Amino acid sequence: MVEIRRVDAREILDCRLEPTLRVTVETESGSGRADVPCGRSRGEHEAVDLRDGDDRYDGLGVRTAVSNVTDTIAPALTGRDALEQRAIDRTLIDLDGTADKSALGGNALTGVSLAVLKAAADSVDLPLYRYIGGADAGVLPIPFFDLIEGGELASSGLAFQEHQVVPVGADSVTEAVRMSAEVYYELGDLLAERHGEASRNVGFEGGYTPIDVTDPRDAFELELAAIEECGYDDEFVLAADVAASHFYDEATGTYGLMDRRFDRDELLDFYEELTSTYPVVSLEDPLDQADFDGFAELTERLDIQIIGDDLFVTNPERLRTGFDRGAANALLLKVNQVGTVSEALDAAAAAHRHGYAVQVSERSGQTADTWLADLAVGLNAGQIKTGVSRSERTEQYNRLLEIEAAHGAISFPDGL
Ligand code: PGA
Ligand code: ZN
Repeated sequence: MVEIRRVDAREILDCRLEPTLRVTVETESGSGRADVPCGRSRGEHEAVDLRDGDDRYDGLGVRTAVSNVTDTIAPALTGRDALEQRAIDRTLIDLDGTADKSALGGNALTGVSLAVLKAAADSVDLPLYRYIGGADAGVLPIPFFDLIEGGELASSGLAFQEHQVVPVGADSVTEAVRMSAEVYYELGDLLAERHGEASRNVGFEGGYTPIDVTDPRDAFELELAAIEECGYDDEFVLAADVAASHFYDEATGTYGLMDRRFDRDELLDFYEELTSTYPVVSLEDPLDQADFDGFAELTERLDIQIIGDDLFVTNPERLRTGFDRGAANALLLKVNQVGTVSEALDAAAAAHRHGYAVQVSERSGQTADTWLADLAVGLNAGQIKTGVSRSERTEQYNRLLEIEAAHGAISFPDGL
């Protein structure tokens, strides 16, 4: 047993200068500190991100969530065994008592759950990924680099949220990161040349934000040109997080894209055209988060990876609906969407049992905390998305590089 001695929380700032929680857990033999990420393009069914709603920080303060940790959660966890992650998470869920974690706050629960995980790993002297995955942890993830941003993440002209390049031809994370960085520099030059210097400005995840590019096909063309210019033609494929819920109009059942409205069938046809014209191997949230049937139809129709993010919100119950209906074939894993580490691990395990891939994901609001990189390796997920530039993103890459350098025997997936 590793006894928990102290649980504490503070309000800190994320990369958007918005408040979030930092939770610290001390045990008899170690400690862990975890920062809570925060989404902007959130799914409707995510665990509640508890905000103070008062005058401070435009209502975004997290002092209530902090005091829920120090006054309610800390007394319940002091003296407990940090190695019993599932029992700890069960206590958190019971203390909260609501289905959407709105009583104590999904952000409070996420911070405590992650800090317990990190404290336990530290207490038994294991790297975090090794503690999470045990002897089995051994696959580094292929990163999906969001080189051009749109939607809720940028003030560009694009409706699709992320236009990603995926270095499937790399044989290590070290090479994957280097090649993608070179494509990123080249794309910056290309954009500046064709669309003006301002198109080099970056969005929340460090990808470029050209104002006058409004067609995802043009974004893909630009990425392919940069890839070709670097001489990496066969080493990269493309992907996108469409985040379609955010340009869906419920009243008319249509999607606003490129200055026109698409109904579901037209959008499905558009995806078919996209994937037959470009080497697009993965689409995240191609349809509205309520449209399980549409996801199922697209999954059946296209022979590519279809990821559910807002669709599943890392929630084992919503995943089950997906399995039953054949909606999507991959899960985007975000711990704070569901609220505790155990529930996120359950979602990943269920996905794998049903033949769904798992992509471990950042939020657009992050800090320099690198538990995300360890989680991807610990789960053998084989895929990670963690933006591009800006230090809260590059710290994740730096952690993956560190794991690869320290543990050379670890493998890298041979394609998706
Ligand atoms: P979020 O967006 O972190 O702002 O929710 C990222 C995504 O939709 O994948
Ligand atoms: Zn998404």
